[in-house]
Amino acid sequence: MSRSWLVRLSALLLCLVAFTQGLPLQQAENEDEKSVPGGRIVGGYVTDIAQVPYQISLRYKGITTPENAFRHRCGGSIINETIVLTAAHCIIGTVASQFKVVAGTNYQTGSDGIITNVKEIIMHEQYFSEFAYNNDIAILVVDPPIPLNNYTMKAIKLASEEPLEGAVSKISGWGTTSPGGYSSNQLLAVDVPIVSNEVCDADYENFGDETYRITPSMLCAGVRGVGGKDACQGDSGGPLVVRDELHGVVSWGNSCALATHPGVYAKVSYLRPWIDAKLAELQIN
Ligand code: ARG
Repeated sequence: MSRSWLVRLSALLLCLVAFTQGLPLQQAENEDEKSVPGGRIVGGYVTDIAQVPYQISLRYKGITTPENAFRHRCGGSIINETIVLTAAHCIIGTVASQFKVVAGTNYQTGSDGIITNVKEIIMHEQYFSEFAYNNDIAILVVDPPIPLNNYTMKAIKLASEEPLEGAVSKISGWGTTSPGGYSSNQLLAVDVPIVSNEVCDADYENFGDETYRITPSMLCAGVRGVGGKDACQGDSGGPLVVRDELHGVVSWGNSCALATHPGVYAKVSYLRPWIDAKLAELQIN
C-alpha cells in the first residue's frame, strides 16, 4: 500500500470514527479544559443557537440497529422550512428514515429545540466524480416543516457570489475539539479567513493521491501559517457563513487546524445552479 493511499484511508477513517464512536460527553468537557490548546471546537468559543439559528444537528442511526437512539452525525443549514443543506458524505449510502433533523438546540444530545423527519435525500449526482470530495453537497427535505421563529430557528440566504479572499467566515458545530478528540455537547463556533482556491490547492499539493485537488466546487478557510482554528470531525455538513450568507458546507481537510492545510468546504456559489434546479423541481421555490 503506497503512502498516498494510507493518507487517503486515514482521512476517510477519521470521518468514519466521528460517525460511529460513542462520544462520552461528560469527559468531553473535561478534555477541552485539560488538553486542547486554545480551548474549544478547534480554537473556537461557545456560542448560542440564537447567534447561528440556521444550524441544525443531523442525527442518524444504523439501519441494522433500529433499537439504537439517533445520534449526532453531521451539521446542516436551514434554507427554508422544509429544506436543509448538508454534505453528500454525511448521507451517502443511507436512506431518509435513518435521520432526524434537530433545529433550535444548543446541544448535540439536546431534546430542547424541535425534531423533524427527513422525507427525501437529494445527493449531488457528481459527488466524488473525478476528484475526492468533489461536489460534496446534498439536500434534505424535512417533514413536518421546521417552525421558523426568527430567533432560534431561521433560514440562511444562499450565497450567489464567491466570498473575497481574507473575508472572515463563521463556522459552527458540535464536532471534535481536536483531531481524533472528543466532540462537544455544546454548540461551538470559530471565525476563520477565506483562503483562495489557488493558494489552497498549492497547500494540498502533496496531500493524498492525485485525486485530492481543490476543485472549483470547493472553498477553503483557515489561518495559514498559524493554524489552531478549524472545523473538525462531526462538523461536516455544517455552515460556513460570511456576512449572513451561506458560502460553504464543511467537507474535508488534512487533520484539523493545521497551519499548513486550510479546512475545505463545498462552495455554495459554485453549486448554486444545482441547488436551485433541485429546489425548483421540488416546487418550493
Ligand atoms: N470529514 C469530517 C466530517 O465528516 C469533516 C472534516 C473537516 N475538516 C477540517 N479540517 N475542516 O465531519
